[in-house]
Amino acid sequence: MAADADRPMLLTNIGELTTNVAVDGDPCGTLRDAAVLVHDGLIAWTGSADAVPPSPDALVVDAGGRAVIPGFVDSHTHLVFGGDRAEEFAARMAGERYAAGGIRTTVAATRAASDDDLRDRLAALVAECRAQGTTTVEIKTGYGLDVATERRLARLAAEVTDEVTFLGAHVVAPEYADRADEYVSLVTGVMLATVAPHARWIDVFCEDGAFTAEQSRRVLAAGRAAGLGIRVHGNQLGFGDGVGLAVELGAAAVDHCTYLADADVAALAASDTVATLLPGVEFSTRQPYPDARRLLDAGVTVALASDCNPGSSYTSSMPLMIALAVREMGMTPSEAVWAATAGGARALRRTDVGVVAPGARADLVLLDAPTRVHLAYRPGVPLVRRVWKDGRQLP
Ligand code: NIG
Ligand code: FE
Repeated sequence: MAADADRPMLLTNIGELTTNVAVDGDPCGTLRDAAVLVHDGLIAWTGSADAVPPSPDALVVDAGGRAVIPGFVDSHTHLVFGGDRAEEFAARMAGERYAAGGIRTTVAATRAASDDDLRDRLAALVAECRAQGTTTVEIKTGYGLDVATERRLARLAAEVTDEVTFLGAHVVAPEYADRADEYVSLVTGVMLATVAPHARWIDVFCEDGAFTAEQSRRVLAAGRAAGLGIRVHGNQLGFGDGVGLAVELGAAAVDHCTYLADADVAALAASDTVATLLPGVEFSTRQPYPDARRLLDAGVTVALASDCNPGSSYTSSMPLMIALAVREMGMTPSEAVWAATAGGARALRRTDVGVVAPGARADLVLLDAPTRVHLAYRPGVPLVRRVWKDGRQLP
């Protein structure tokens, strides 16, 4: 049932189509009894199912009155790594606190893994993402923390996505334990020069236990000088400088945003920086959830992402993020679906994904449900029935 490059596809009898092309106070641009025409991997037309332009050679796919949404845009993951941290998770569920230091356990396992092993595990995780409706995924390095391994991770990530982020400044490498500034010099010097050709973005973990505001500024400034866009991990474990720095430097996104001062919210609202919320982390670390309602009411653009990683959020499920955001963070179902699609696209500064509009990529998800609300209403139920990426149906 794939629409191949030379055969158009008409997806019709869609009960509810989420376009994310805002109309009359509806940011989700909802169309009922709709159809979508796909040609050459792109959306060619959307509209009412009884007004489809003539398309005699199109493969017709009947949505059976179900809902269709844009493919999820997961703008924050750490999918390339070795080993896992199930024991750390179990200890946490027995009362331990989450700390950034666990990252070093994964660094050791990742350095020890072969390229083939890492590639196979990455492919399995990407397949997991796709099966749950994610059609665009950002992937960070950050479990190498030496020049050779960071380069390996960036190259492997680039095999599966255009959205590769250099996160050499995840934590200070173990070899530099008491020499954080020297490690920052390595990251901003040889490591950046080696990894930048394989990456689109630079990121830093600006947090107590990782990097100070001044160190983070050095990292981000160097990345920008090397032609990379800026993203920040900030305000995850406590109040701090991450959000302010991200806004000041014009970052595309600042991610986590769990502990925000009023000034952080005001700064975000006055900026183009997206606040990306990662509720899988709070779910998996038993920490307080970020207050999405406060951000939305202030006019901040909010994205949802999985942060899939072996430490703080070992899940690739965007439907789970939607369910958590609605039940725990004050978002409406429509706001959460928008944040997981169009919001992710904004966080990656992309206009060709996260939207169902002529000229956009034909990245579509057919739900086994009549409306998008069911993604939050039926948590844990596999509602993703079919996925198309660039017009091709995924297996
Ligand atoms: O986004 N915050 C920093 N990095 C990851 C956690 C990585 C880990 O614990 O391995 C995060 O939550
Ligand atoms: Fe992260």
